[in-house]
Amino acid sequence: MHIDIITVVPDLLNGPFSHSILKRAEDKGIASVKVHNLRDYATGKQKQVDDYAFGGGAGMVMQIEPIARCIEALQKERTYDEIIYMTPDGETFDQPMANALSLHQNLLILCGHYKGVDERVRERFITKEISIGDFVLSGGELAAAVVADAIIRLIPGVLNDETSALTDSFQDGLLAPPVYTRPAEYEGMKVPEVLLSGHEAKINEWRFEASVRRTRERRPDLLSKEESGKSDVKSNKK
Ligand code: ADE
Repeated sequence: MHIDIITVVPDLLNGPFSHSILKRAEDKGIASVKVHNLRDYATGKQKQVDDYAFGGGAGMVMQIEPIARCIEALQKERTYDEIIYMTPDGETFDQPMANALSLHQNLLILCGHYKGVDERVRERFITKEISIGDFVLSGGELAAAVVADAIIRLIPGVLNDETSALTDSFQDGLLAPPVYTRPAEYEGMKVPEVLLSGHEAKINEWRFEASVRRTRERRPDLLSKEESGKSDVKSNKK
């Protein structure tokens, strides 16, 4: 997978992609991320990419011309499955959306700044608008990093233990169960006995029940209406 990201503050995106899982994905040649400075597509001495809003009001608006030049130049290199605009008024990002996006080959992400982009950019170029939550960031860069991270770690081969992405919270509509490591006892706090038993079926059952319990306590909205309210769950999905 290749992800191009367009931004006016490329420095904000240098960090997240040069470490850990994302770096490993790049090194293995499974995923690549390239950050493009929108200012490189601006003309004139000032390299201006924004201007006052027609109709007045506080805040600057990102202009269509530099964005159009940048997107059109990148489109000469590759065909994008989605051209994404990061914006608080987009569709809320979640695990199913990450799963779907992880199946694509080429993504282009445009980060908004200031008061956002000229509406005509959205009409002309954007195929998907994503918000990472009901709050407003100073720009779309951190949101783009969140989305790219969530997508890239799902691509087969990126995580060492491929099953670990499948047992993440939300992958089966449930929060993940608690996890423990050595020591088996810390200042009187014991690891649940079953996890030390080596009995795989029992461990899976414990984990599933702990997942359901945690989801019911913290995110009852994730459980189907039918299931929520029941005190014991018999099926074992994990
Ligand atoms: N840009 C500013 N706030 C944002 C948000 N919540 N999600 C995505 N992009 C944004």
